[in-house]
Amino acid sequence: MKPIGTLTWLPDGQSQPAYEELTVLSHAMNVDRDHPQACGGHAECGTCRIRIVSGDVSPVFPDERLLMEDFPESFRPGERLACQVRPRGDVVVQVPPDGLPDLRD
Ligand code: FES
Repeated sequence: MKPIGTLTWLPDGQSQPAYEELTVLSHAMNVDRDHPQACGGHAECGTCRIRIVSGDVSPVFPDERLLMEDFPESFRPGERLACQVRPRGDVVVQVPPDGLPDLRD
């Protein structure tokens, strides 16, 4: 894989090479970043949500769209599932401060 930019995490500012082949959650796992997830990255729990602050990312795919449609009040503008979204260049993401509830509960 060849990096296509830099992925930066807020609020702590950690950055790492970005790969378009990997989801944002996979990026976190690659650097042992403790990012929430409760469904194994299957677009079911919503606990991995992040806000895209800047940068180009992959479009919303059907599994992510389904969760967004089932829980429209739980997705704020710019929020995506870290387990689904992939960077397409330099991307900055914001992690919610207190974690998010599992939407299946
Ligand atoms: S890890 Fe469950 S929706 Fe992303």
